[in-house]
Amino acid sequence: MTNQRALFTTKLGGILATVGSAVGLGNIWRFPTEAGENGGAAFLLIYFGFVLLLGTPLMMAEFMVGRATHRGAVSAMRQLSPHSGWFLWGYAGSITMLLIVSFYAVVAGWTLSYACFSVVDQLPDFQEYSTRLWMPLGFMTVFFLLNAGILLGGVTKGIERASNILMPILALFLVALCVNSLLLPGARQGLNYLFHPDFSKVNSHVIVSALGQSFFSISCGIGCLLTYGSYLPDHTQLGKTALTITMLDTLIAVLAGVIIFPACFSYNITPDAGPGLAFITLPTVFQQMPGGYFWSIIFFLLLVLAALTSSISLLEGPIAILQEDFHMKRRTAVCVATTTGWVLGVLCSLSLYPELTAHLTIGGRTLFDLFDGLTADVLMPLLGFLMSLFVGWRLPKQFIVEQLTNSGVTSDWLVSVVLFILRFFAPISILLIFLSGLGLF
Ligand code: PFF
Repeated sequence: MTNQRALFTTKLGGILATVGSAVGLGNIWRFPTEAGENGGAAFLLIYFGFVLLLGTPLMMAEFMVGRATHRGAVSAMRQLSPHSGWFLWGYAGSITMLLIVSFYAVVAGWTLSYACFSVVDQLPDFQEYSTRLWMPLGFMTVFFLLNAGILLGGVTKGIERASNILMPILALFLVALCVNSLLLPGARQGLNYLFHPDFSKVNSHVIVSALGQSFFSISCGIGCLLTYGSYLPDHTQLGKTALTITMLDTLIAVLAGVIIFPACFSYNITPDAGPGLAFITLPTVFQQMPGGYFWSIIFFLLLVLAALTSSISLLEGPIAILQEDFHMKRRTAVCVATTTGWVLGVLCSLSLYPELTAHLTIGGRTLFDLFDGLTADVLMPLLGFLMSLFVGWRLPKQFIVEQLTNSGVTSDWLVSVVLFILRFFAPISILLIFLSGLGLF
């Protein structure tokens, strides 16, 4: 049983929208710092292993469930596994998406404000800026409004059209920034920092980080890809599409490192970690770089575009559920999801405001840090683990065969590999990594 709902109209549109979801702040700012700090190419190798062996099959699993049912996460699970509790997975995923979008939008608001400050050539001191009250809230609100504007357009006229326009611009900015960085005098040193493998830094913490980063970066495990998968037309080759998306995502993460580290080393500035990198280190670099005014605008716009195409996917998951399971009109669903995300975002933002931090801190961590850590390091792997069990064990093998071969139209060499990974490799390795992260062995 399938229902009549909007689908992406072209193959490219579907791929661009999903790459748009995957490529975000996670690639351009989180990945390079993680890689730089955690052993360079050694981290890259582990990360890539996770993307290829766990993330890509899980992306396929979500695509299969979404495309087979053409429904959002809750109804899809209900349809494939009636009279069971699996639909709760859809709700858990959707709550996770809202938690992610809340801290994500805080950072996206900073990038939006920095893009504007770059235009007037007055970048503020970040330490001081991030603890201001109204301005970060204001820019975050504008960011949510941009999201709502796109999402109100629906799947084809909103998400697909925005991705078709924004992703090529993003690619252009990325290539321009890369070329510029590679022409700088410190290019070799920067590349060495990123690519020199230092296996002595690899420990269980690094492995858990690489797993969290890989899931976060390709948006997998929480139903976001399931929702986009539900908009893929029936003839889409799911295996090939998933592989294309994860490879592009990894390429862009590496290119972000190629932009950032050569620039830092060229001006003798130690690459900082976390938010400091984008908002403290790089502005200092841009100040000294010839044409820095221009590059700074391009860089922050790149971050805004990347964040926007990801956050619409984070809101679309809950929106699909509100439409299908709560029978809301699209417009109402967009308002409810965006407002919920905004309220959580306000709390995250306020948790960084010095006078309120104490009230918005749980277990010694601000809501901002808590939501970040909880989603990337706990909820995404956990829900991904459950997804692999669902498709691997709960659904019949025939389901995977039909979905991956489009009912026998395309070749089936992938089927046994994906089945093995979803049944054994993914659940066991996620569990082991998780337990070792908790320090249990
Ligand atoms: N993949 C996005 C990034 O790398 O920034 C973040 C993200 C989007 C995570 C959508 C999860 C998700 F469902």
